[in-house]
Amino acid sequence: MSIVRWSDRFNLDIAAIDDAHRHLFETLDRLHAELLGERRRPVIQSILDYMADYTRTHFAEEEALMAQMHDPALERHRAAHRALVDRLARIAADWRSGDAHASVEFFGFLLGDWLWRHIMEVDMKLRTHAPDDRHAADT
Ligand SMILES: [Fe+2]
Ligand SMILES: [Fe+2]
Repeated sequence: MSIVRWSDRFNLDIAAIDDAHRHLFETLDRLHAELLGERRRPVIQSILDYMADYTRTHFAEEEALMAQMHDPALERHRAAHRALVDRLARIAADWRSGDAHASVEFFGFLLGDWLWRHIMEVDMKLRTHAPDDRHAADT
C-alpha cells in the first residue's frame, strides 16, 4: 500500500506548482515501491537522479514565479531550496557509495523534509498569490 499519496491539502491553487508537486509525489511513490520491492540499484539511482533534476527545475520555476510577483520572501525561499538541493545531492552521493543507511535516510528526507515540510510550511505561503484567493479576499 502506498504511503506517499497526494492529497488536496497540498494544493496551493496554482496549477503549474500543484502539478509539479503531484508529480514529485508520484515519483517518490515509485521510489518507495522499489525500496520495498526489488531494490534494483540502477532503478533507484535513475529515480534519484530524475528527482534531483526535476526538483531543480521545479525550484527555478517557483522562484521565477515569486520574482514575477515581487514576493518579499523570495530570498528566504531560495535559501531553503538551496539547502534541500545540497542535502539531496549529499544523500544521493552516499547512496552511490553504497551506504546502507542512505536509503532510509534519503527516503525520510524526501518525504518528510522536502515534500511535507517544505510544501506545507514554505510553499504554502505562495497560496496567497492564487487568483481564487485574491478573488475570495475581495468578496
Ligand atoms: Fe519551494
Ligand atoms: Fe515546491
